[in-house]
Amino acid sequence: MRARRPMLAANWKMYKSVAESQAWAEQLKAAVVEEGIGADRDLIVAPTHLALWAVATVLADSGVAVAGQTLDLGVEGALTGAVSAYLLRQAGASWVLVGHSERRQHFGEDDALVAEKAKAARHAGLGVILCVGETEAERAAGATWSRLTQQLEPVVARLSPADWAAMAVAYEPVWAIGSGRTPSPEEIGEAAAGLRQWLAAAVGPTAEATRILYGGSVNEQNLPEFWRQPGVDGALVGGASLAVERFLAMARIPLVPGGGTQ
Ligand code: 13P
Repeated sequence: MRARRPMLAANWKMYKSVAESQAWAEQLKAAVVEEGIGADRDLIVAPTHLALWAVATVLADSGVAVAGQTLDLGVEGALTGAVSAYLLRQAGASWVLVGHSERRQHFGEDDALVAEKAKAARHAGLGVILCVGETEAERAAGATWSRLTQQLEPVVARLSPADWAAMAVAYEPVWAIGSGRTPSPEEIGEAAAGLRQWLAAAVGPTAEATRILYGGSVNEQNLPEFWRQPGVDGALVGGASLAVERFLAMARIPLVPGGGTQ
């Protein structure tokens, strides 16, 4: 038995109209029904906020979960343009991405705000995919590990140990996102092992239940090698998730029950 249920998550970023999102979800649902895809792993789709309800409606009862790509703090209120964890849940989300590097880079989200968002999401009962990763300059300076722990520490400080059973940590090196470049499978395995060891020390035994994902230029060709690494529970996929056939190819990768891929 695997220690944790494998996970494959699609992050569509600012792509797909509502109609395109619905069509993708319908094709995925057909494969789930016909082939039993997703029986041995969690499948999660993160559409734009606009398409979230439509996608969740198509995927209701399919076992495929829907995630928000970000959230704002608060519940309801006079906050023009904001979307809270509560509203995401009401629209059908059961997960949310927090701390994606594009949010950090283009929307000024710092480590403390990211941690507050993780707390708000957990408070509303959402599972959280917490994204962490180093820039190319940080990697070159040998600061990868200190950057990762710097991102994790404020989250650990705000959550209870029990929350970590409903958390996934996505290791997404910033330089690997959308670049076609990735760390080697062994480096990804080492990062996952390091993250779990750090979490176990910081959080305690519930860290055993936290899924650790890799993200950054994942595709149907390289994912089997990444998934084969002990301690890598799955992937967060951007560009290669946009075509449903490519996501299905990744969702069909045979997994060995004890860990790894066939
Ligand atoms: P790409 O798979 O397009 O590199 O994006 C990764 C990512 O940012 C997923 O959140």
